[in-house]
Amino acid sequence: MDKKKLSNLEPNIFKNVFNNLPEIYLVISKNFTVNAANFQFINALSIDYNKIIGTNLFSFLGKKFNLLENKSADILKLSLQNVLKEKIQKITSILEFKDHGKLYELQNNNKFFIFSINPVLDSHKNIECIILKIDDVSESVKLKIEVIEKNKNFLEKRYSINEKEKIQNSIKMETLGKLTSGISHDINNLLTIINLNCDIILNSSQNISPVVKKQCSQIKKTSKYAGRLMQQILNFGKAQPLNPKVINVNIIISEIEKMLFRLINENIELELNLKEDLYNIKIDQGQMEQIILNLIINSRDAISDTGKIKIETTNFCTETELTLGSHKLIQGNYIVLSVSDSGIGMSPETQARIFEPYFSTKEQGKGTGLGLATVYSIVENYKGTIEIKTELGKGTTFNIYLPASDIKENSLAKEEEHQNLIGGHEAILVIEDKEDLKEVMVSVLRSHGYFVAAASHGREAIELIKNEGQKFRLIIMDVILPKMPFKLFIQEARALIPNIKILYISGNSHDVLQQFGINNNEMICIEKPFVISTLLKKVRNIIDK
Ligand SMILES: Nc1ncnc2c1ncn2[C@@H]1O[C@H](COP(=O)(O)OP(=O)(O)OP(=O)(O)O)[C@@H](O)[C@H]1O
Ligand SMILES: [Mg+2]
Repeated sequence: MDKKKLSNLEPNIFKNVFNNLPEIYLVISKNFTVNAANFQFINALSIDYNKIIGTNLFSFLGKKFNLLENKSADILKLSLQNVLKEKIQKITSILEFKDHGKLYELQNNNKFFIFSINPVLDSHKNIECIILKIDDVSESVKLKIEVIEKNKNFLEKRYSINEKEKIQNSIKMETLGKLTSGISHDINNLLTIINLNCDIILNSSQNISPVVKKQCSQIKKTSKYAGRLMQQILNFGKAQPLNPKVINVNIIISEIEKMLFRLINENIELELNLKEDLYNIKIDQGQMEQIILNLIINSRDAISDTGKIKIETTNFCTETELTLGSHKLIQGNYIVLSVSDSGIGMSPETQARIFEPYFSTKEQGKGTGLGLATVYSIVENYKGTIEIKTELGKGTTFNIYLPASDIKENSLAKEEEHQNLIGGHEAILVIEDKEDLKEVMVSVLRSHGYFVAAASHGREAIELIKNEGQKFRLIIMDVILPKMPFKLFIQEARALIPNIKILYISGNSHDVLQQFGINNNEMICIEKPFVISTLLKKVRNIIDK
């Protein structure tokens, strides 16, 4: 529907639509005065509409109804202030409400909400008002609690972990996840710019010196590594395999080794003994790195002065089912990753508790106690086992067994080799609000033959499509678009070019994409940070499909 038609609509129809929206909506002014609330909100709180209009959001939520915990109020206030400053949409972390009022019927449970804060801008880009969409996620939090209760694994059977503390921690982790997702978006943007610029230098036809080439490759590798670390932070707490690929652990260790000098001081000698024909395994690369790094960092912390850390890999085969360490292994081939140290070792009491989440003997603030719990859940997921040999005062060895893959080729080697960059001549529209990122993407695509137009936001893109006719075959865009709700943009773009293809760029986890209504299956997505070859390959695939 165009603007004209919209403005011809009866104000009453608008009012009706607003009131009958299935979600809870509030409209507030810049000083947080409540201007309007829809039926869902009124129903949920069973209050008199007139009692809340004109009141301050916080005094209404806090004083009148005693609904918002103080900390939650602070988080909401901070997010609102950020929205006023940055004028872009923000999704706040889960906010907890006290057990009052009709909204809060869950027996003795507090409710949890996610606030989506959307600024409405006038033609001078000033904020006219703010639309708050409130999602009740209590059910999913409750479900999580139920799942935790149902799936009591051996840890909980062996140790009586305080359930309440566990739930609180799981909620804390979820909140942390929401916050990191925002930061990771920005970091991934920066990493993409670094990657693409390195690729441009590496692929430039002029003769670049071997030194520059080597340094560019190093920058690319480091940024790739940083991207994966970011992914790990985003995925922390999720036990499911993320993107398992056939890889060789020796290659990962060699890559990590280059970064280890920052982690380990000179007093610690590092010895590598990697088996030449080590079997490949199928695992998410980030999770494999997480296992290695957690073990090495623990070894480092166990060495107080000087000492040695040894990293070894070897193949292992068992003809029968075998109970070894923490789990049973079925018959078959495995790899063994060993990390040994000459550190302080562990007492039997400590050893008995090391996989327990939040168990740490380190000083407050030094260890979360989640390192080995994470390693445990990853290894369990891939049907491996962990064997520990330790002696107080002498040192510790962790042996990690993981099932071998039959596939001989590993994707790490392939990724490095795959550098034949295929371009095309189709018209592509790039929408990206970060100038540097937009510029470098346009330059990459143009230098590979494509006709490229670029816009900084959804509105500009729609104008471009109208002016340039229907020649665009593909839109490459971020899911977070300034100035125009994402879904509306897709609707308008599809109305102008019905068979337009869309490649979503995302620096966020799939959960966040789902919040934008993009379903995992239908989504063709490229994750930041990416390199030229991935971008060009995806572009070709999606256009040729
Ligand atoms: N190589 C090791 N030598 C001696 N003790 C160890 C070793 N690895 C782990 N531990 C013991 O196991 C505990 C739990 O380890 P875990 O990695 O889960 O948490 P953490 O290292 O304390 O904290 P985080 O990993 O979150 O920084 C440690 O606090 C330590 O007491
Ligand atoms: Mg640790």
